[in-house]
Amino acid sequence: MDTQLIKTVNLLQDAFAQSGLSTSTIDLPQIAVVGSQSSGKSSVLENIVGRDFLPRGTGIVTRRPLVLQLINRPATAKPNGTDGGDAKEEDGSKPTSDKLSNPDEWAEFLHRPGEKFFDFNKVRDEIVADTELKTGRNAGISPVPIGLRIFSPNVLTLTLVDLPGLTKVPVGDQPRDIEIQIRNMLLKFISKPNSIILAVTAANTDLANSDGLKLAREVDPEGLRTIGVLTKVDLMDQGTDVVDILAGRIIPLRLGYVPVVNRSQRDIDQKRPIHSALESEKQFFENHASYRSKAAYCGTPYLTRRLNTILMHHIKATLPDIKQKISQNLTKYENELASLGGPNGGTDGSSVILGIITEFCGDFRTAIDGSSSDLALNE
Ligand code: GDP
Ligand code: NA
Ligand code: MG
Repeated sequence: MDTQLIKTVNLLQDAFAQSGLSTSTIDLPQIAVVGSQSSGKSSVLENIVGRDFLPRGTGIVTRRPLVLQLINRPATAKPNGTDGGDAKEEDGSKPTSDKLSNPDEWAEFLHRPGEKFFDFNKVRDEIVADTELKTGRNAGISPVPIGLRIFSPNVLTLTLVDLPGLTKVPVGDQPRDIEIQIRNMLLKFISKPNSIILAVTAANTDLANSDGLKLAREVDPEGLRTIGVLTKVDLMDQGTDVVDILAGRIIPLRLGYVPVVNRSQRDIDQKRPIHSALESEKQFFENHASYRSKAAYCGTPYLTRRLNTILMHHIKATLPDIKQKISQNLTKYENELASLGGPNGGTDGSSVILGIITEFCGDFRTAIDGSSSDLALNE
């Protein structure tokens, strides 16, 4: 996620902590993925986070909701040659996702309190193990979410939800009404007005039959919080492309569509690292006759920027409410002081709060202005 956005949110949270107001006022939307089974939902989420930790594969792999809380936490450990940090990070470039551990990035499961996972392969193993514990091994599903927190200096404090895919025919231990059960499970997450829906459709299937889009439309008929993600663009038949979909000529969405290329099953089997996959995704769009001219609007990095923009708009939209809460608090405080001992007693306290607000508004404006070029670019 965009570091500017991370800074803005941290700034707001600091201001709230200082003013004694609840930070929940600026809760960012939860981002939930919906789509058919094996359309690439887990792959998309993993690419957005930039770490390998989700079980992916053919068939029903995600069988319980995974509520993933990303928590921004400044780096504390000093990089040195002996702690497993690699050279890439020390020379200031972005940390690579395939690195096994970094002392500033770890995961914790709600069902294993106090235990820190620094090895993200172990995180994936634990997701699989706890899924099997609740659903058995034979393709069963459960609406009981797995709670996972990732602490890192490189993430935005935000909640992402990985969900089982829509499926029609029961297999293994699945109940006969599997289709209805999964639908209800997904609706529970995406019907929240504060959730952003990533409606994932494989580009080598018909958009008109997209389960993800159909479900998204039920809860967001005007498409105000649904963004279309087209996966498997690399698997389309020669001579076909998603250009008409991107142009809004098939099923228009206000927030539009972003085409991506995730890792193939072969890449997963060969443990291909994220950074290498992102590089070939870039090459794919830049060299493809249909996408070359619009490569800047294709791929995972663009999808992440779109999400950043949507989140920034969300913050802007909630600002008036935040301001009102602050001034209500101020009035209440002044009244309390007045009742305690008149205006003399009040001068100090009020001016402290006023100072914080003034500072906060100034800082926030700077942060918003700093990101406004990105906002303008995408609108
Ligand atoms: P989910 O069931 O929707 O969560 O889908 P997964 O992320 O588990 O992916 C299902 C399968 O599709 C895996 O074998 C992935 O490797 C493969 N896959 C996902 N996205 C792409 C893509 O863009 N291109 C290719 N070639 N394979 C993909
Ligand atoms: Na799958
Ligand atoms: Mg999945």
